[in-house]
Amino acid sequence: MRTQIVAGNWKMNNTYSEGIDLINQLIEKSDSIKDAQLIIAPPYILTSEAAKIIKNKNIDLAGQNCSNHPDGAYTGEISASMLKYAGANYVILGHSERRAYYHETDQIINEKIKLSLENELMPIICCGEVLNEREENKQFEIVAKQINGMLKEISPEDIKNIIIAYEPVWAIGTGKTATPDQAQEIHLFIREKIKNIYGTEIANNISILYGGSCKPSNAKELFANPDVDGGLIGGASLKADDFIEIANSF
Ligand code: PGA
Repeated sequence: MRTQIVAGNWKMNNTYSEGIDLINQLIEKSDSIKDAQLIIAPPYILTSEAAKIIKNKNIDLAGQNCSNHPDGAYTGEISASMLKYAGANYVILGHSERRAYYHETDQIINEKIKLSLENELMPIICCGEVLNEREENKQFEIVAKQINGMLKEISPEDIKNIIIAYEPVWAIGTGKTATPDQAQEIHLFIREKIKNIYGTEIANNISILYGGSCKPSNAKELFANPDVDGGLIGGASLKADDFIEIANSF
């Protein structure tokens, strides 16, 4: 059976103490979670402390991004090895906000994926179309191109350590969610794509998460789809009760 995952992308939210407080609340409530792997991605500044607090708990830790260079003169950047050293086991890569505001291409994301894997970080790689692409029914073409670019030269061994997140950009932070049918249709398409490249067994085992205004009120019907293996949650991951309720929606 595939791993069911609920990952919280905090983005650039919470002060240091609010962040610690949220982690402690999550730890308190996480005992109720039976069927999902819980991951949080706080801002970098919290990574080390978060790693200490969640040690031996039901929660794992991700970075929100990492550099496409191993080290060197890249002011403001954090490397995959630094994230790993700080205690992260996962890293979100290619989020649409990184693509839109920081001009990340599939090529750059591919470099980040390779460095993350070398450093034993599991990448959660994001794909998804913008609104006008959806209106023109180009979502399949766009997602296929992103997947091809991001997974260039990624071996069958390495793909086993990658999680995919489908996040339609028009649904992120907008309150608009893909319908369960829309989500299932494209998740199945992504799984078929992985099957074409890596074969049936790998395709059947890869976790594909949905992201975009996923909340307690819609998580159940989204996660009920056979090819939706959980969620990448933004806004609703900032409230402990909502995040835990989503994680209990399988
Ligand atoms: P949202 O964000 O849940 O706030 O829409 C999802 C994401 O950006 O990963």
